[in-house]
Amino acid sequence: MTALAELDLPFLEMERPEFGVDPLKHFAEARAKHPWLAASNYGYVVHEFTAIRDLFPQDDKLHPPYAAVVEMFGTKGTPWGRFTSEQMISLPPEEHKLLRHTFAAKFTPRFANQLRPAMRATIERLLDEHAGTGRMDFAEFASWYPISNMFDLVGADRARIAGIRDDLETLGLAFSLDKALIPALQTAIVQIDALVAETIEERRADPNGSEKQDLLTLLVDTADQGRINARQLTDLIMFFFIAGYDTTKNVLTYTMYELLKYPEIYARCAEDHAYCADVVEEALRVFNPGSVARVTSEEVTYRDVTFPPDTMLYFTFNISGRDPDAFVDAERFDPDREIDRDHRHVAFGLGKHMCLGQYIARAQLQEAIHAIARRMKQPRLDGEIVWRPYPGSWGLKTLPFAFEPVAG
Ligand code: HEM
Repeated sequence: MTALAELDLPFLEMERPEFGVDPLKHFAEARAKHPWLAASNYGYVVHEFTAIRDLFPQDDKLHPPYAAVVEMFGTKGTPWGRFTSEQMISLPPEEHKLLRHTFAAKFTPRFANQLRPAMRATIERLLDEHAGTGRMDFAEFASWYPISNMFDLVGADRARIAGIRDDLETLGLAFSLDKALIPALQTAIVQIDALVAETIEERRADPNGSEKQDLLTLLVDTADQGRINARQLTDLIMFFFIAGYDTTKNVLTYTMYELLKYPEIYARCAEDHAYCADVVEEALRVFNPGSVARVTSEEVTYRDVTFPPDTMLYFTFNISGRDPDAFVDAERFDPDREIDRDHRHVAFGLGKHMCLGQYIARAQLQEAIHAIARRMKQPRLDGEIVWRPYPGSWGLKTLPFAFEPVAG
């Protein structure tokens, strides 16, 4: 057994902008020194696919770090601090269990399929608005999709989309741990809170509200049938806005970037709706935005390393699918790749906090790829790409893009 302090670990400077441009290079160098563990300013980094799958789901020994982040920011009792420490993922185990138990059974692939017509309408509307000229920053275009979808799925007032999108951009930066962001984080959370509370209120006041078979009706009815109070319901819907924004936008943008290299796959996406599901799964293997942190609740030993209690561990889901020890020809994008149970991607997490919105996210991405491939022909890069910082929600910040537009 080796104590952590005695290990000579590689050090990853993940906060440096150049790290986000090519993290795989840095992880390959780190792997040469230690197969699965590195040190960083964010805590210890677990980056091997197998180590992530073994360690991360040990929910009885690890807990999410958000209370520590609120403490570090000195934001306890403020709007952002309250939300961050009471959001679904931060709740104490029993409260989380109740919330999860109440909603998880409803978030099925079947329910996500019911939402597909609304998703199709959203992406077609965005394509009508943005895709006429044959040029765009695809990352900017993609940023309108998850937020517009959420607005349509809960029946919120579309006139407020632009303001809330800016708020979600701000909240996405929280993981840079920059204290200068605190005032903007507070404003953002207050605005999202007000939007969600008003949207629920309007739906409850609408005599025909429960006939609308959308996401909001499901959430309100399920909360009423369970023991979920108004604050918890509002927080959950706020969390949906936040959890689905950067994630979906970054995956969609990266998928397009990858497909620029594979024109035959892109062309098939326009013709073959079912194939888009395989493309999305392969995209989530080669890229996903999340690096998720956990704190050890007790002493944890894995292989020959012992972590003391209160150790911050940083799990790099986002690059885990390109681990050369876990995947043959890991860099090759192949939607027909055979994947066994033990090698399914971990883009949606593992264990008791596994993404509640995963089927909705998949449906959104599949519908978007299919519609985009039909309406944007012969896509090509049209300028320099820029990467986001690696910590937090990683991905492409800009993807300048030209194509032949096709009317809807
Ligand atoms: C491609 C898009 C998405 C990705 C990659 C993604 C990824 C994740 C990951 C990795 C987690 C686990 C975090 C942890 O364990 O700390 C998570 C949790 C969660 N996600 Fe997603 N997500 C996506 C979209 C969505 C959407 C669209 C929604 C809502 C409609 C959503 C709702 C949630 C919720 C509620 C949780 C917390 C579950 C719990 O604590 O029990 N996500 N997501």
